[in-house]
Amino acid sequence: MKALMNQLRESAVNAILNADSPESLDALRVKYLGKKGELTAILKQMGKLSAQERPVMGQLANQIRAELEQAIDQTREKLEAAALEARLELEAVDVTVPGEDIRIGHKHPMYKALDEIKDIFVGMGFTVLDGPEVELASYNFDKLNAEEGHPSRDWSDTFYFDTDSRVMLRSQTSPMQVRAMETMPLPIRIVAPGRVYRKDEVDATHSPMFHQVEGMVIDKNVTMADLKGTLNLVMQELFGEGTVTRFRPHHFPFTEPSCEMDVQCHKCGGKGCPTCKGEGWIEVLGAGMIHPKVLEMSGIDSEEYTGWAFGMGLERLAMRRFKISDLRLIFENDVRFLEQF
Ligand code: DAH
Repeated sequence: MKALMNQLRESAVNAILNADSPESLDALRVKYLGKKGELTAILKQMGKLSAQERPVMGQLANQIRAELEQAIDQTREKLEAAALEARLELEAVDVTVPGEDIRIGHKHPMYKALDEIKDIFVGMGFTVLDGPEVELASYNFDKLNAEEGHPSRDWSDTFYFDTDSRVMLRSQTSPMQVRAMETMPLPIRIVAPGRVYRKDEVDATHSPMFHQVEGMVIDKNVTMADLKGTLNLVMQELFGEGTVTRFRPHHFPFTEPSCEMDVQCHKCGGKGCPTCKGEGWIEVLGAGMIHPKVLEMSGIDSEEYTGWAFGMGLERLAMRRFKISDLRLIFENDVRFLEQF
């Protein structure tokens, strides 16, 4: 039995001193000293020994137990020290290493153009509004006099939610007119920029998501002359004095009369080129005198008040402002392109 115990002592001390992780060390402790451990198993045999042998063996067993415990403590300390060392090394900060270059971003040309547009309107006493992109069809269509059956409500043009045609991604910023009329005191002068969504294929002039800036003025004695004068001034401010513009008659359900405004093409100076599709002009906005029905639907007396409104395509204006030839460049966000502005 003594030989057995000495053999155990030797292999156990060896294994313990060579344990390479706290987990394996713990497993060894259980293996040798645990309730069902090897040393305990030997001690359980003590009953079979003679009265002289028993105390000798008992003493040896205690000695071995103490030795193993000491080896365990020693190994644990060694492992902890090594772990600490490894962590310190890993977390060491070399304060002499030069910092990484942080690339500074660049304001997108479209938002630069938007800032300029907002400044121009704020300078004329307009308030800037923000509104939801997920919109009620009643705001996007009904209250703007585009009744059920109007072609712009078609499922092939509009992003409705599932099968519910009451909720949609707004197809224009014009619902902000209704939101302003319903919540703001008169007179009203607002601009409302934001994203709009239509089921368009991507090409040089179209994208399923684009930006508009809506504008609206409601006051007493407001006329079409105010509309033309104000928008002309905006284009001079934005594109420079002497910018040539024109208004063409058009139709929108929410204005009467309605028009579209063009600015002369920056690329060809009006001669016609690919950028203006040979027209010599670039359409920048739709506008008109707010339809009396639209005013009345939002509770405004159309006998007392009149107004005008417009919706401009922000990408188009930014392209004209910074002489960009392809709409896709605006959305690609290639830093080499953005950095030019
Ligand atoms: N919402 C129109 C569009 O998306 C643009 C527009 C036209 C807005 C006339 C207006 C307006 O406010 O009066 O094409």
